[in-house]
Amino acid sequence: MRIEDRQTPASITVEDLEVVFPPPTPDDPPAVAVDGVSFEINTGELVVLVGRSGCGKTSVLNVLAGLYKPTSGSVSIVGKPPLAARDHIGYMFARDGLLPWRTARRNVEFALEIRYGRSLSRSERKARAIEYIEKVGVGHALNRYPWQLSNGMRQRVALARTWAIEPDVLFMDEPFAALDAQTRAEVQREFLDVWTRDKKTVVFVTHDLKEAILLADRIIVMRGGKVVDQVSVDIARPRDENMIEEDPAYRSMHHRLIEGLQLDHVPSREI
Ligand SMILES: Nc1ncnc2c1ncn2[C@@H]1O[C@H](COP(=O)(O)OP(=O)(O)OP(=O)(O)O)[C@@H](O)[C@H]1O
Ligand SMILES: [Mg+2]
Repeated sequence: MRIEDRQTPASITVEDLEVVFPPPTPDDPPAVAVDGVSFEINTGELVVLVGRSGCGKTSVLNVLAGLYKPTSGSVSIVGKPPLAARDHIGYMFARDGLLPWRTARRNVEFALEIRYGRSLSRSERKARAIEYIEKVGVGHALNRYPWQLSNGMRQRVALARTWAIEPDVLFMDEPFAALDAQTRAEVQREFLDVWTRDKKTVVFVTHDLKEAILLADRIIVMRGGKVVDQVSVDIARPRDENMIEEDPAYRSMHHRLIEGLQLDHVPSREI
């Protein structure tokens, strides 16, 4: 463990978290989505959560973001319960959720308006929106409406919108899943650039094991509502998405993840 790791306070602490949904009919059993999950995430750490469909990843994020109340267990975000920590949190989904009647710039301004109200003036909101849209490489599209943007550009604007509110912790639920492989690689690069500059605490969910290894400081593996493995990604940054698969460390990590997920007999598209 490096010295700076020991000195960095945990940004997120999850202890014995359980999320149980009521049964759809009285004859069904309740759905145990999260079953005794515990982990800590350090300030500035980029943690990726992987697991097969239905293993509870989104449920964990929703509890962290204060959208679900846990059935039992405790969660602390920057030392507070999730609802009290709302102003520290940003949440980004696979669907960009951009407002179609607002331009890229005004979508980001809207998020700033919601988060900061009148404590940021109009011109401050505008300047910050432009700054973040430029940071993710779509400065040329500031005044375009969402329907005038490609999927990759829309997702970049969504990234700018989440990042512009300058949250301390960021939850990202398969944010690049809907993009084609090449666009995804480009947006991953933009995301890593922004993260490297600002070093926010990030919890990132993906089904894509290469994406997980490319992005993460640490990978948490879930199966059936439980954490079954945690893997530190000791591959130097910046990582090259074209070369990383050649790295023996990548191959052994990939193998370990496949084993943890018990994917040997599952076609990759069903992960
Ligand atoms: N609101 C809900 N009511 C009842 N059951 C739910 C609800 N939300 C999730 N579940 C169940 O909880 C389990 C975990 O769901 P969750 O969405 O957390 O999985 P996930 O790992 O994010 O899956 P995916 O990779 O498909 O997004 C699933 O069995 C799901 O059917
Ligand atoms: Mg999910």
